[in-house]
Amino acid sequence: MIPLLQNRNILLGVTGSIAAYKAADLASKLAQAGALVDVVLTQSALQFIAPLTFQSLTGRRAYRDQDLWGSEGHIQHIGLGKKADILVIAPASANTIAKLAYGIANNLLTVTALAVEAPLVIAPAMDGGMYNHPATRHNLKILKDREAVIIGPVEGHLASGLVGIGRMAEPTDIIGEIRLILAQDGPLSGQHVIVTAGGTQEPIDPVRSINNRSSGKQGYAIAQAALDLGAKVTLISAPTALTAPVGVNLINIFTADEMKAAVMTTIPDSDMLIMAAAVADFRPITLAQEKIKRERGIPKIELEATDDILTEVSRQKAQTNNPRIVVGFAAESHNLLKHAQRKLKSKGLDLIVANDITAPDSGFAADTNQVVLIDANEKVTKLPLMSKEEVARKVMERVSDLSANFQ
Ligand code: CTP
Repeated sequence: MIPLLQNRNILLGVTGSIAAYKAADLASKLAQAGALVDVVLTQSALQFIAPLTFQSLTGRRAYRDQDLWGSEGHIQHIGLGKKADILVIAPASANTIAKLAYGIANNLLTVTALAVEAPLVIAPAMDGGMYNHPATRHNLKILKDREAVIIGPVEGHLASGLVGIGRMAEPTDIIGEIRLILAQDGPLSGQHVIVTAGGTQEPIDPVRSINNRSSGKQGYAIAQAALDLGAKVTLISAPTALTAPVGVNLINIFTADEMKAAVMTTIPDSDMLIMAAAVADFRPITLAQEKIKRERGIPKIELEATDDILTEVSRQKAQTNNPRIVVGFAAESHNLLKHAQRKLKSKGLDLIVANDITAPDSGFAADTNQVVLIDANEKVTKLPLMSKEEVARKVMERVSDLSANFQ
């Protein structure tokens, strides 16, 4: 379930392309997220996929051209169009793109498209030659100038057997784009949120490093939650195995020093910093230029402290009042509240998100987390065990409330 998508009317147009099978996945993911997905198939789409596929996935009727004149009469297209929060055409063939560009309305989908006032998202899918044809390029430009969001196509294997540009964008990327559009007027619109995530890596030699055990999941979920509230998001990330949410400005770093540099250069133009990263507290004093060889015996690695990024940020905030809200995390193995309260004060935070990393299903690699929120007024909110996405939403809702109080 994705609250932003819950009960939103998404009209999904499916046209004639082998990528129609991916539209089924898109419809399924949207329905699972809680959206009300109405599907309109063109005649050519029916060559590739059946309305029943979509009906089974969405639990709602899927429409085709004969429904334009069906039992609900000519108002069908108006009805579908009027209630849509967004019209997504995926896959969009060159033919349908041309019709949309010129307002040609000769089937249920294109008639409906003319009746829709909601934002239009188009995911083209076609042969590379067709995509690169000046006619298609021109038609896409017309639609872009009309503020349609064009996503993809991407490179890969095409139905022709060739490898090239023309594949439909992945459903998760299309959903990311839909989320950005639906979040546009959210409570954090116009605000710039910086999120740090992952565990920094402090190199010992060219192949080894001291790492913090962090998957980055909680930080990435916070970045997505901030996007869902309409914020502009910069995600400063240590190495992770995760894909960044669609729409973030991603800055990849390795070390605590690089993270600090990225944070300090980004905060002057930010409103909030959410420091979810596990930053190394120590790093090797010297970096061996060559791989340390085993036959030389066990090396002695001397460590030095890294700078505390949050302390630096608070110092800056005291002078410039920027960023207005600073949130830290505290991953503790004992005395959770005591340590978290101390960090909240010593690091000058507005809010701290504390978790007991020894609790079952909580902490580093887990998909769930159980956290306590403590604000600068010492208000303590204990949240139950929930998914990291839900924790992220709770944290960002709280941050959003704090931000509203500041205004
Ligand atoms: N943090 C930071 N800079 C560092 C280390 C940590 O900004 N060099 C931030 C983390 O991103 C987190 C918060 O400080 O938001 C608390 O991190 P944590 O590791 O729990 O606290 P430490 O101050 O490092 O204390 P300790 O490791 O002793 O618990």
